[in-house]
Amino acid sequence: MGRSSVRLLVAVGLLLLRFNWCLAVDGGGVAEVGGAFPMVVSTWPFREAVRAAWEVVSASDGGGSAVDAVVAGCSACEVLRCDGTVGPGGSPDENGETTLDALIMNGATMEIGAVAAMRYVKDGIKAAKLVMDHSLHTLLVGEKATDFAISMGLPGPINLSSPESLEKWANWRQNHCQPNFWKNVAPAGSCGPYRPINLAQALDSVKHEVEGSQGGVCQDWFQSDNLLEPINSHLKFIDRHNHDTISMAVIDKMGHIAVGTSTNGATFKIPGRATEHSNSSSW
Ligand SMILES: *[C@@H]1O[C@H](CO)[C@@H](O)[C@H](O)[C@H]1NC(C)=O
Ligand SMILES: *[C@@H]1O[C@H](CO)[C@@H](O)[C@H](O)[C@H]1NC(C)=O
Repeated sequence: MGRSSVRLLVAVGLLLLRFNWCLAVDGGGVAEVGGAFPMVVSTWPFREAVRAAWEVVSASDGGGSAVDAVVAGCSACEVLRCDGTVGPGGSPDENGETTLDALIMNGATMEIGAVAAMRYVKDGIKAAKLVMDHSLHTLLVGEKATDFAISMGLPGPINLSSPESLEKWANWRQNHCQPNFWKNVAPAGSCGPYRPINLAQALDSVKHEVEGSQGGVCQDWFQSDNLLEPINSHLKFIDRHNHDTISMAVIDKMGHIAVGTSTNGATFKIPGRATEHSNSSSW
């Protein structure tokens, strides 16, 4: 087995170890090299996505490429809005808007394409592939990614909100914008605009006030503006409904591997935040 095939298998192995997964392989089960290809692996039990990728890569006329299969698989999840964490209509940011991050990598050429915080275009993985195929860049972001994707033929501009994402956002606003992703800011317990606070300095000045008045103002200080709350209530737990979205690896009949990922990111993120999914070194 060549070094590159070993690397491919290690990559797939790591993917399997790291996530809950869904796997489809050729029925042959032959032990010799290449006998187990094609193969499709995906995070979480996104069966429709695996099926879509499998149809491309296992076609009887030789089978499509791993890259095309990854695009088909991740696109299926975008259309189905898998778990609300992929594609349009989920994970509203602080402004109630849905934006997309996606990345694709062709293991045969080591080319990468990605988009992050892309607005108004619903086809994340296709946009990432356009970056890979038609530019010398790796990552385009925000509205410039939108302009690029639309100029290359993807539909848009499209409002990516859904009734569900707008309702979720309205409830969050009603709940004083909690939980959120800010820290060391004031006001802590309500919606912004926020300003940075230096916690050590804030504590110092409280101490001064307390010392200066023998404790008299302590109560007032603590009731004003929530200044001392160091961090707000973050989303700390991780499960299949707030983590990871879709990541997929495919090995085609030629033994070439491609990987991809597509997500609408964290719910109530600060606008502009991009996930690790758009960071190729984290693969
Ligand atoms: C999308 O549509 C909703 C509902 O009409 C609207 O409130 C929101 O501002 C729109 N989002 C963007 C980014 O234009
Ligand atoms: C990208 O991922 C790598 C590996 O996980 C990490 O070391 C690096 O800090 C990340 N870069 C950014 C910009 O997040």
